[in-house]
Amino acid sequence: ETLEYEADAAEKSGYDHYMLKEIHEQPRALRQTISGRIDAEDGTVNVDVDLPSEYVDSVDEIQIVACGTSNYAGRYAAELLESIVDVRTTVEVASEYEFDGGRDPWRTLVVAVTQSGETADTLSAIRRAKRAGARTLAVTNTLGSTIVRETDDSVFIRAGPEIGVAATKTFASQVATLTLLAVHVGRARGSLSYGRARELLESVRRLPNAIQGVLDREDRIREVAREYADSDAFFFVGRKLGHPVALEGALKLKEISYDHAEGFAAGELKHGPLALVTEDTPVLALLTDGSRPGETLNNVKEVQARGAPVIGAATADGDGEAAADSTYLDVELPVPATGALEPLVANVYWQLFAYHVADEKGRPIDRPRNLAKSVTVE
Ligand code: G6P
Repeated sequence: ETLEYEADAAEKSGYDHYMLKEIHEQPRALRQTISGRIDAEDGTVNVDVDLPSEYVDSVDEIQIVACGTSNYAGRYAAELLESIVDVRTTVEVASEYEFDGGRDPWRTLVVAVTQSGETADTLSAIRRAKRAGARTLAVTNTLGSTIVRETDDSVFIRAGPEIGVAATKTFASQVATLTLLAVHVGRARGSLSYGRARELLESVRRLPNAIQGVLDREDRIREVAREYADSDAFFFVGRKLGHPVALEGALKLKEISYDHAEGFAAGELKHGPLALVTEDTPVLALLTDGSRPGETLNNVKEVQARGAPVIGAATADGDGEAAADSTYLDVELPVPATGALEPLVANVYWQLFAYHVADEKGRPIDRPRNLAKSVTVE
């Protein structure tokens, strides 16, 4: 028994849980994701996918299908795609997907985002799309998975194995891979300028160090998690690229701490959720580049006026401190400048927050009740 215990501890490299180990592995996982795929000088990307340029030119719709955390990575990518590729992009929860491919289904590219490559809902969505004649592409972490065999093309996120049920490093690597794919498609179609492509690729390149900057502040976020662990509920808000991160932050927290947590588009607060806001419901807000921080600050004022504590992740200034107007924040968490990927960097604070709230409560973090790493039933 002792031996078993020691082997387990060794695999976790000294961390108490796989989840914490995997959160800390993000800089390394991202370096693998990016490795050899960026030509910063040319503003081009090579993601080893064989999408012929005539095909890329003719695509008139991109449909992303995925579940859980992968769905939120898809939403992040769709926000980006919309701004850099002139193609209509939709994201759907795979279990809700029905192919609606228009007149020429082949011109619809259906992208399945799935860490395991085995999620039944996602596989069945892809089968539906294929039957209707669409071209399919998988973005996955798993070589030799069913999704790889069943799609026309696949791109690997190269995050390495993930054991914790709650997805962490694979979310970061999915978003990074999808960003590279978006730049690739945008450049191939001529809709993305050289300057903007370089800017986006620079954001991707900065990711590992920026995330390290957040990991280095774990002590602070642990303190904050302990302070607020006993709250009635937790609300995560953000706009634009901050919206999927708000949804993902809430998902992580509910999965592993069993606390009530919800994510909203910050502007929707006043259309309902504000009724739930009290002194016992911390609001975790994204105030970074890519998430319309100025407008979100107005929503922060609304919740603060109702007595809610506000934990804000905001772009760091030159001194490494959060640059947002701190009058409205009870806790300020500085996010290293990373342009369009800043919300993804800020997400690491939400991962650590969820982890430490759950740890404080003694939850079985790597195996939360009722959940599975990969759900192979519809
Ligand atoms: C399960 C896991 C989630 C994951 C989702 C999709 O629900 O618990 O962490 O996000 O499946 O999994 P996939 O392997 O398709 O990304």
